[in-house]
Amino acid sequence: MKNLSLAIILLFVPVLAHAWPWSMDMANQINVKPQESVDPANPGMNPFPKRSVPAPGTATSSIEVKDKDAAFKLVNPVPVTARTVDMGHRLFTIYCVPCHGKSGTGDGYVGAKLIMQPWNLTSSNDIHPWDSKDYPDGYIFGMMTFGGAVMPLYAMDLTPTERWEVVNYVRAVLQKRGIPPAAATAQKTK
Ligand code: HEC
Repeated sequence: MKNLSLAIILLFVPVLAHAWPWSMDMANQINVKPQESVDPANPGMNPFPKRSVPAPGTATSSIEVKDKDAAFKLVNPVPVTARTVDMGHRLFTIYCVPCHGKSGTGDGYVGAKLIMQPWNLTSSNDIHPWDSKDYPDGYIFGMMTFGGAVMPLYAMDLTPTERWEVVNYVRAVLQKRGIPPAAATAQKTK
């Protein structure tokens, strides 16, 4: 019953879901954070130097794309090649397999503990087809950038390029679209 009410709260308060332990636990410690003042008389931090850019590992979601609707319309800038699909595979294994499973169908060990099963990312999904019009690359990118009702967000863990590489893996391998022949040959001759 406790689990059920927790899941219901998380379903209706997505912000809480984003605070799930695994996303920020290691970062939320009493240590002094980068650029944080150690002088109690002078709290706050120095302003960023002009022309500074966010480093990988910081949440860039609000800079690169406003919300899920905007993400939906993004065109995937990372070409589907053997290399990007391979990178995507590695990242998927680290970040997505615990819930979505190696198969991508949602049969991961962590996913099994959730009240809402992780959804099926393969073309065997019988809730909705994975056509490019209604479920474009930007939809998958948006799920990773902003999370879902239960699914945590990955904007802090994966750079935008890495997120597109995961999209390429989901499309080419899990959804069996393959790597365009031109890209595959171009990779080999390199
Ligand atoms: C903690 C478990 C968990 C992890 C880890 C996780 N997901 Fe999810 N995912 C879910 C759940 C639960 C849903 C169901 C929708 C929701 O939460 O709103 C979902 C839904 C999705 C959807 C929507 C599927 C559809 O049918 O429309 C996509 C796309 C997705 N996840 C991609 C990913 C990717 C890519 C990763 C790795 C970066 C990932 N997920 C990691 C739990 C997870």
